Amino acid sequence: MSRELAPDWILKQALDVQHSANMTWRAPNGATATNPNPPETPGLELTVIGCGTMGIAILGGVMDSLSSAHPQDHVSIPGKSVSGTSTPAEPLPERLPNRFNACVRRHQSAKRIQSELSKYPAFDKMTIYENDNLTPTKAADVILLACKPQMVGEILADPEMKKACEGKLLISICAGVTGEQISAILGEDNSCRVIRVMPNTAAAVRESMTVIATSTPPLPPLLSHLVTWIFTRIGRVVYLPPSTMDASTALCGSGPAFVALFLESLVAGGVAMGLPREEAYTMAAQTMRGTTGLVLQGEHPAILKDKVSTPGGCTIGGLLVLEEGSLKGTVARAVREATVVASQLGQGKIGVNGPRGK
Ligand SMILES: NC(=O)c1ccc[n+]([C@@H]2O[C@H](COP(=O)([O-])OP(=O)(O)OC[C@H]3O[C@@H](n4cnc5c(N)ncnc54)[C@H](OP(=O)(O)O)[C@@H]3O)[C@@H](O)[C@H]2O)c1
Repeated sequence: MSRELAPDWILKQALDVQHSANMTWRAPNGATATNPNPPETPGLELTVIGCGTMGIAILGGVMDSLSSAHPQDHVSIPGKSVSGTSTPAEPLPERLPNRFNACVRRHQSAKRIQSELSKYPAFDKMTIYENDNLTPTKAADVILLACKPQMVGEILADPEMKKACEGKLLISICAGVTGEQISAILGEDNSCRVIRVMPNTAAAVRESMTVIATSTPPLPPLLSHLVTWIFTRIGRVVYLPPSTMDASTALCGSGPAFVALFLESLVAGGVAMGLPREEAYTMAAQTMRGTTGLVLQGEHPAILKDKVSTPGGCTIGGLLVLEEGSLKGTVARAVREATVVASQLGQGKIGVNGPRGK
């Protein structure tokens, strides 16, 4: 089958649309909502290859959402859409994952999955595989590749695995591994549809900023709704072209570390002026959270700064010190540096953090 043609299960899904579109249910609060996976419509089987920190976070978001009355509403997304194709407009997928497989190598990793996910009712529909990726890949409708980037080649190059991926949706979150690289490993004629996605560490608290790479040809709506649904379980999503993935990795993947440094700096200043350390961490973190909340609701940072800078006051005094220290240029350069390093790592180069001119 050529790569342009939809895999079998997508076509089957399309045929189910008319029927399932008529299936509505009365939610406990009286609202009418589309019922994901009504009894006649089988759910999807989702297999996570490499179910460690990120795999558990994503499965946790999905399973938690499935136990709520409104799977679509689990993550609250303030009304304003960011540029590009973003989360609020996406409808509920016609079919949701309701069977799960998690693959690891070590028994200890399997026990971790159990201890972190067994609290969700959907865990009853989960199987954990140790040292067997093939069986659950064969059974899967959707594959989430969440192993370390260096394991991708070894795992997917197996001929049986390539065959098991045929006609399926494979979502990779492996940093620095492009969709083209994965497609090349699977083979030119493989009908597996590969999507590259970059979540971040805040997935653990369902606050990830996830960038989903657009693809050519575009993902059919049924699939894009599904991918969006999965990743809105762990935070916000935005679709951007694959050419932006290195910059996205720098901003969203490295971003939490950069923000943590700024947070530490706020705390250091507060502690230097006599604030108790523990309270200072809470104060700085909540202040950053409140500020980002305002920006995500549409407040422009420059307006926000002006609003809190009383003429002759303390805020403008502090802001000017930050400007003298070239905070904006320095942080922007850190993002640019991380983008360059991400692109070089993606090309397999090593030792790429050597000194560079300004
Ligand atoms: N962590 C982040 O913030 C973040 C953000 C964005 C993207 N990512 C990407 O997400 C991926 C996973 O990161 P992570 O932090 O979740 O790593 P992790 O916690 O180390 O998880 C990797 C998992 O892969 C399993 N694994 C290793 N070899 C395997 C094999 N041959 N077959 C099946 N499973 C295997 C490991 O199990 P064993 O220990 O039993 O071998 C482990 O559970 C990486 O590619 C990373 O680039 C991570």
